[in-house]
Amino acid sequence: MEIRIFETCRQACQAAALVMGAQIVSKPDSILGLATGSTPIPAYQELIRLYQEGIVDFSRVRSFNLDEYVGIPEDHPCSYHRFMRDELFDHVNILKENTHVPSGLSRDLEGDALAYDAAIEAAGGLDIQLLGIGRNGHIGFNEPADVFTPQCHVVELTESTIDANKRFFDSADDVPRRAVSLGVGTIMKAATVLLIATGEDKAEAVRLSVKGEITPRVPASILKAHRHVLFFLDQAAASRL
Ligand code: PGA
Repeated sequence: MEIRIFETCRQACQAAALVMGAQIVSKPDSILGLATGSTPIPAYQELIRLYQEGIVDFSRVRSFNLDEYVGIPEDHPCSYHRFMRDELFDHVNILKENTHVPSGLSRDLEGDALAYDAAIEAAGGLDIQLLGIGRNGHIGFNEPADVFTPQCHVVELTESTIDANKRFFDSADDVPRRAVSLGVGTIMKAATVLLIATGEDKAEAVRLSVKGEITPRVPASILKAHRHVLFFLDQAAASRL
C-alpha cells in the first residue's frame, strides 16, 4: 500500500488525474474503473484539461463504472449515468459505446450484475480502478457487512450512506434504498487501485482501512491485501494516521 499525503484536496486529485492520465498514455486502450461522488470531480476536471491540451487521448479507452442507484432513470440528475456524462464523458473523446455503467433499471438486476462482471472479464479486466471511500468505509456501494461480496450485486444502502448522499437529492426520502455495485472481488482484480480520500469526515474511515484489521465491517480494509494500491489523501483525510 502506497500512501501519499498532499496538502490540499485539489493537489491529491490532480496527482490522481496524473496517474490515470499516465495509464492512458502508456496504454491507449486502457480499461478504466471509474467512480462517482464529490471526491473525484476535481480529478475528472484535471483529466479533461489533459485531454484539451492534447496530452491524453480517450479514443481507445473503455470504462466501467463502479455502481448505480436502483430505480432512477439514466437521465435523472442524481443518476451515475448522468454524473459521468456531465463530469467527464461529454468533455473528452471517449466513445459512448465504450463507456459502461451498471443498469439500475433492469428487470433482472442480479442477472445483469453478473453480466456486467463478465463484460469486464471479457474486456481483459480493469487496468486501474479509481475509488472514493464512504464515511463508513464503503468502496463502491460495498457497505459494511458480515462478509465480503466478491461479484457485482444488488446492495441495500445503509442509513449512513443515505444520510451522506441526501445532499444530492431533494430529501433523504428521495435517496434510492438500493444500488448495484461492483463487488470487492472485481475491484481487487484491478491491476492498480487508486483511492482518493479528502476531508476530515473521511479521516476515521481512512484510519480504520489503513491501520485496522481486514474486515468486511470496513470494506476498504481489504485493499491492504492488494498488490498495487495507492491512497492519495489530503491532510484532513490523513489526520488520524
Ligand atoms: P463522496 O463519496 O466522494 O461523495 O464523499 C465517496 C463514496 O461514497 O465512495
